[in-house]
Formats: sequence, C-alpha cells, structure tokens
Amino acid sequence: MNKEEKYELLTRQIVALIAGETDAVAVMANVSAAIHEAMGFWWTGFYRVTAKADNDEKELVLGPFQGPVACMHIGFGRGVCGTAWKKRETVVVPDVEQFPSHIACSSESRSEIVVPVFSAEGDVVAVLDIDSKELGTFDETDKKYLEGIVSMLR
Ligand code: SME
Repeated sequence: MNKEEKYELLTRQIVALIAGETDAVAVMANVSAAIHEAMGFWWTGFYRVTAKADNDEKELVLGPFQGPVACMHIGFGRGVCGTAWKKRETVVVPDVEQFPSHIACSSESRSEIVVPVFSAEGDVVAVLDIDSKELGTFDETDKKYLEGIVSMLR
C-alpha cells in the first residue's frame, strides 16, 4: 500500500473506532494508537490546551500518545506544537534542526508535523503531534489526511 492508501484505510478505521464515543481522552488515546500502528511513526500523540493551575494562562499539556516519554508542558507559541496552536494551522517541519524554537523531546526526532484540533466553536483545544526519525517524512498528503482525521474529533 502506498501512503494515500494507508491513510484511506486508516481514516475508515478511525470513523468506526470513534463512532458514538464522547470521551475526549478515550478518543485521543485510540486515535493516536491507530495512526501510530498504521503508519509506523516514531512518536504520535496529543497535547491538550489546559488552564494553568496558578494563573489565567493556558498551556499545552501532554495527552494520550504512543512512543517514548515526552515533554509534558509547552507554552503558547513555543516549539512546533505551540506554534501550530498560535497560528491555528498545521505546521510541517522537514528538518527539526532548521526550526529554531523546536523543542527536542527526543534527539532521535528529525522531522515533525503538528495539526491543531478545533472545537465546534473554532477554538484550538489540542494539537496532534507526530515525529519521525527520518528527515522530510511529512508532506501535503500527511497534512490533508491528518487534518481530516482530527476534524472528526470535535
Ligand atoms: N518537538 C515538539 C515537542 C513535542 S515532542 O516532539 C513529542 C515541539 O517542538 O513542539
């Protein structure tokens, strides 16, 4: 199967997997597992926009994921994840060393894609972050299908 065919199958699997489920963490857990298994990525997971305990600010906090342990808190506009949150759009990074504010949770990560997850009201409520051990893994095909998958999460 080529990448498009894998994503087509994965998308259909996810439609069935999350049908009728209303718990956001349960959905994110199974969606991260489904993507990770189907596509063979290095790290696949969600960071959720979460209110800080001690002030009115919000930050990204590690949510359900598959892969090695990762950073738990990311500020607005920080790293690839915080940038996708701030810009409200998908960020594709072909080479993490060329992305100045990249947060290196793992020295093995070489390329990355981060897709914002929107609520029905249009707020960013989470981001889907996927890392690869190879350079240039993610392109317009990944962007298109991953945006389609996260649009099912609201
Ligand atoms: N590299 C990300 C941080 C999260 S880890 O890759 C899992 C970033 O720069 O936002």
